[in-house]
Amino acid sequence: MDRVIVFDTTLRDGEQAAGGTLNLQEKLEIARQLEKLSVDVIEAGFPVSSPGDFEAVRLIAKEIRTPIICGLARAVPQDIDRAWEAIKEAKHPRIHVFISASDIHLGYQLKKSREEVLQTAREMVARAKNYTEDVEFSPMDASRTEPGYIYQILEAVIDAGATTLNIPDTVGYAMPDEFGRLIEGIFQKVPNINRAVVSVHCHNDLGLAVANSLESLRRGARQVECTINGIGERAGNASLEEIVMAVRTRQDFLNLTTGIETRQIYKTSRLVSELTGFSVQPNKAVVGANAFRHESGIHQDGVIKMPITYEIMDPRTVGIPASSLVLGKLSGRHAFKERLAELGYSLSEEDLSRAFTAFKELADKKKEVTDRDIESLIAEELRTSSEVYHLDRLQVSCGDRGIPTAAVQLIAPSGQVIADAALGTGPVDAVCKAIDRLVGVPNVLTEFTVKSVTEGIDAIGEVLIRIESEGVTYTGRGADTDIIVSSAKAYINALNRLLAAKKTTG
Ligand code: KIV
Ligand code: ZN
Repeated sequence: MDRVIVFDTTLRDGEQAAGGTLNLQEKLEIARQLEKLSVDVIEAGFPVSSPGDFEAVRLIAKEIRTPIICGLARAVPQDIDRAWEAIKEAKHPRIHVFISASDIHLGYQLKKSREEVLQTAREMVARAKNYTEDVEFSPMDASRTEPGYIYQILEAVIDAGATTLNIPDTVGYAMPDEFGRLIEGIFQKVPNINRAVVSVHCHNDLGLAVANSLESLRRGARQVECTINGIGERAGNASLEEIVMAVRTRQDFLNLTTGIETRQIYKTSRLVSELTGFSVQPNKAVVGANAFRHESGIHQDGVIKMPITYEIMDPRTVGIPASSLVLGKLSGRHAFKERLAELGYSLSEEDLSRAFTAFKELADKKKEVTDRDIESLIAEELRTSSEVYHLDRLQVSCGDRGIPTAAVQLIAPSGQVIADAALGTGPVDAVCKAIDRLVGVPNVLTEFTVKSVTEGIDAIGEVLIRIESEGVTYTGRGADTDIIVSSAKAYINALNRLLAAKKTTG
């Protein structure tokens, strides 16, 4: 059975998704989780694109030792030199060089001939090879490129030293059989192909990214590029969890395997959703809230008698907590700590104490504290551990008579307690205006969503807020049983991220 190399690009192509910007610490946290998931390659970023991206790739390269750490570079000297600068401390560094290959891109965007592009590709792969043995090359928009030209470029870059050849369906245009034939053609027509690994990178514009990836694996590709929850440019990339579970569940058909620690999938999915602010749709395969829920009586009856009747995967294999044990106000620190460990959290004693206090406060308000409540509570604790401004007190008056009014008290970075009040069109508007008077950072609120974590009137409400400042979007989240408090926390979280980003970029 052949092993497929899983190349995760959540931190590069995934982060390119509109509104999905992550800060340095968040990227590092995701990279640590990807290491636990046992991905083979982490594409950590595009170092030349910004000082922030460079720093994130550099930090990940220094800290994450097991997977290959890859930096993306256009086929230009400055990009390649910068990518190497960022990854040079990695235990296993890789440079990924790409250049457009289709006539559409060459004619309208690059304004270069096929010969010029071929020459550049060869030279830039050779330049990358001077830095590291491990060089990947991608002919961008390959699925809309004349196959004969792809074969020619691939042969040239293998001779120049490329060890992985990645075939991107950049615009998500390909059909599975068509893309599969392109991959098969590469094995037949590129004479030196046995010196490289063939990889695929599929986008999801027609909802076919996973199908195209699996078809390519069937036809001989041995590296697959994907992202957690399928996030990425436009409609996203192929979803890692779907590919990995398809390979595992249909081993009989595909005769392939991956090195992924599948029990880490659920946790990774939750973390990426939490940090990017992109919710996972309930019916999403493998990790959606309904993926293992059976509503129809006939299905429930079957699953009770024998899960295999309607479940093709055991939810425990993707790390969905098996126990439906709920904690309550009589649960002690030990039970709380055990539950955290079962959910995959290992907190320092100090963080544990803070989380336990928050748990006790929640258990006083809410009869049953579920796993989702605990996840939300821990996420809130982690958010508040690196705050610039902290919400100290909040009081709101609203209703169908009178003017919504909010009084807000914050702890400023200096430790000083500051307070102000404002009127608004509604309670959330009044809260945001009062916070604005205290923090004073101009921005535009572009998105506000609230959702309950569990069923029940006493549920925690999670609020997601996106704000825009100087063309950059910042996401904030907040959780509380009072949704006005959640809104205030989410708005402050977004402002804190804006302020932290401004501080790093000077
Ligand atoms: O979609 C694409 O073509 C890419 C390349 C940089 C590989 O992301
Ligand atoms: Zn892409």
